[in-house]
Amino acid sequence: MVSRVIPVQPFDLVLFGATGDLARRKILPALFHRFQIGQFDSNCRIIGSSRSDLTAEAFRSQTADAIREFGQDVETKAEEIAGFTALLDYVAVDARGENGWDAIHGKLREDAIRAFYLSVGPALFPDIARRLSETGIATPESRIVLEKPFGHDLASARGLNAALREHFEEQQIYRIDHYLGKETVQNLMALRFANSLFEPLWNSSHIDHVQITVAESIGIEGREEYYDKSGAMRDMVQNHLMQLLCLTAMEPPAHFAPNAVRDEKVKVIEALRPVAQASIARGQYRGKNGDGYRDHAGNPASRTESYIALKVEVANWRWAGTPFYLRTGKRLRERVSEIAVYFRDPPHNIFEGSGPIHGNVLVIRLQPDEGITLKTTIKDPGPGGMRLTGANLDMTFADELPESGRPQDAYERLIMDVIRGNQTLFMRGDEVEAAWAWADPIIAGWQDTGEAPQPYDSGSAGPDDSLLLIHRDGRRWRSIGT
Ligand code: BG6
Repeated sequence: MVSRVIPVQPFDLVLFGATGDLARRKILPALFHRFQIGQFDSNCRIIGSSRSDLTAEAFRSQTADAIREFGQDVETKAEEIAGFTALLDYVAVDARGENGWDAIHGKLREDAIRAFYLSVGPALFPDIARRLSETGIATPESRIVLEKPFGHDLASARGLNAALREHFEEQQIYRIDHYLGKETVQNLMALRFANSLFEPLWNSSHIDHVQITVAESIGIEGREEYYDKSGAMRDMVQNHLMQLLCLTAMEPPAHFAPNAVRDEKVKVIEALRPVAQASIARGQYRGKNGDGYRDHAGNPASRTESYIALKVEVANWRWAGTPFYLRTGKRLRERVSEIAVYFRDPPHNIFEGSGPIHGNVLVIRLQPDEGITLKTTIKDPGPGGMRLTGANLDMTFADELPESGRPQDAYERLIMDVIRGNQTLFMRGDEVEAAWAWADPIIAGWQDTGEAPQPYDSGSAGPDDSLLLIHRDGRRWRSIGT
């Protein structure tokens, strides 16, 4: 197979929060895999940093463990891990004090791309950004990468944006939403804008409604401190589901270029109608023997939702009359993320008495088994006259394109884009603010009423209220698992 790997330029990446969970599970293994396939070599450096006093050797050995534990299931030779960890260095730094900054400065090269990855809580973003700038560590060409959550509401997101912009230009700022790095999310743009088949039908004249589902089977174990203050709306809808909605609903940008794409996404967010509380269903998982949300949260009175479903309307020419139903939750029956586009039935059924027409549904599967399915109606083969039946045109990318190799983790693509200086798959400041401006009144709505989320059983498809939400409109959710 011809290698499709395009090497990036030499870089020095400083990873703040290097001993944290995300760094160990995602960021460092992602970097390793791109090293393994030769996208960068020994001319690059990764400088881990955190509060902990750690030697570079200890950081290398922790990273090797993390790669073995969380790296992808691909053949990995010990010398590959050793080659990668040889690029690592470590500096203990006090984000709010003086310690460590000179040492970081001393390790950076003049002629390498500088990227600062803040895998830390947002409360530290302003302090680290200021230090990087005041010490001269960050140059006008440096990139700064911010992990989610980007704020807790509109006011805090505005505050963060303002604090960052005191030291960095917008084109240096990379706000991560890892959903944008998922292969199928990018494929959604290819499907819509590189094929002529779908776009003429992609509007309310032909599409009845859209369902966007991100169902998880895991709970919140271990993340209670963050999650119980956030809930599914802040944790998933304001960012990940919003991105899926934007890419599904946006107008074709003139170019596949960062601002052209992001301009169109912002227009979608700005066209969203406020959501009435009657168009929302919130749930909280319950479980036996201390295995419910409130047990995991350590908060017996918690009113935080671990599930949310909403009916969302994009009030513009293309989508008026076509609702988007969004749902996401933890501890559901299966892990499924997908976008299902329901086309309207044909205007007239010439096959009356031959069985129902199975409406066309285009399902874009993000995970597991990335791929696309188109539900169609065909003649039931064989004798028996004209009988209609449903059949799927099904494409699982791994089967169709086996040469594309192992599935890529979203972080791999995103980190390499930072080094390449391509912001297309990162959220712009105004985009994040627009998403909070939409989400804030929704959250305030249930905070005002003080209503508790409806309990649902772990391993189920979510609370009953979410069924009612869509049944009221004469529609049904696609099933989550079997
Ligand atoms: C994170 C959320 O951003 O995304 C988590 O904070 C969630 O709560 C995760 O579990 C889901 O990501 P993925 O890639 O596993 O679908």
